[in-house]
Amino acid sequence: MSSRTASHTALITGSTAGLGSAFARQLAAQGYDVVLAARSDDRLESQAETLTSRYGVRAEVIVADLTTDDGVGAVQERLADTAHPVHLLVNNAGHGLAGSFVDNELDAERDLLRLHVQTTMELTHTAARAMTAQRAGRIINVASVAGYTPTGTYSAAKAWVINFSKGLHSQLKPAGVTVTAVCPGLVRTEFHQRAGITAQGAKRWMWLEAEDVVRQALTANAQGAAVCVPSRTYQALTASLKFIPDSVVQWAADRGLGVPGQDEDAQRQLAAGSEDASDDGTAAADADSSETDSVSSARQ
Ligand SMILES: NC(=O)c1ccc[n+]([C@@H]2O[C@H](COP(=O)([O-])OP(=O)(O)OC[C@H]3O[C@@H](n4cnc5c(N)ncnc54)[C@H](OP(=O)(O)O)[C@@H]3O)[C@@H](O)[C@H]2O)c1
Repeated sequence: MSSRTASHTALITGSTAGLGSAFARQLAAQGYDVVLAARSDDRLESQAETLTSRYGVRAEVIVADLTTDDGVGAVQERLADTAHPVHLLVNNAGHGLAGSFVDNELDAERDLLRLHVQTTMELTHTAARAMTAQRAGRIINVASVAGYTPTGTYSAAKAWVINFSKGLHSQLKPAGVTVTAVCPGLVRTEFHQRAGITAQGAKRWMWLEAEDVVRQALTANAQGAAVCVPSRTYQALTASLKFIPDSVVQWAADRGLGVPGQDEDAQRQLAAGSEDASDDGTAAADADSSETDSVSSARQ
């Protein structure tokens, strides 16, 4: 149990698994009361019980699908509750998509964009208003190293999260609110399994542990950083990308080096003008087996 006396509250979206679960655990261990938001009622309830009994903190749950207006509205309502202020918001809920852009249903692409971009923007807006009124607050937006590469809706959404967070960092700093974009590489969570992404070509060194990523993210945010890339390896990789001309990055992406699997599949189908490549699942199998060792194979 924490020795903290002044009560602080953290709200974590996507708290039931992976990075969100680690954020909730580490923040509770620091003495934060927690508000846990995700879709799975039973997982939320048991997580709340565990955190309360282990760390002696208060734990609220909000069952919400954050691809819906109602779900986002429920979380916004809690963020705007000035009687019980939220001091730290973690916009973490997210998912990936295994298929190529043209194969995926438009609704699936739209939901992805909604969750990673619109929901992040809406929750941040509500939290930022409440926090700037208090002249204090912390916001952590979980992006990805994928945001540094041109690899489809997911990476475009994460690029938005990075840029959005950087801009807000400058705007809100004078009001005492720290905004940090966290850009992990591949992390061992439920993410890939849920999306049906094998990531089997990824080397061992590419994989990070959720607890390490979250520890670095919380430290970076507490120290006032605008962007946090956890692990020296990914820091070196993202730094080196800044020195590679856009034309070379595009050249690599065009050859599937930036998006193995998913986009190679798309390229094959586009090149063949094929409409039927994935109907029997063969294309997906091919895509899985064609993943390379490129760091950008992280469709995370
Ligand atoms: N794992 C990686 O390699 C990696 C790398 C870079 C960035 N990221 C980012 O890290 C964040 C967390 O991912 P993770 O790896 O921890 O994945 P995860 O283990 O699959 O956990 C995802 C969490 O998000 C929640 N969630 C998903 N869709 C939701 C929705 N529509 N509404 C509300 N909650 C939703 C899930 O809970 P319910 O199912 O209960 O709703 C779960 O708690 C994501 O933003 C992801 O893009 C992951």
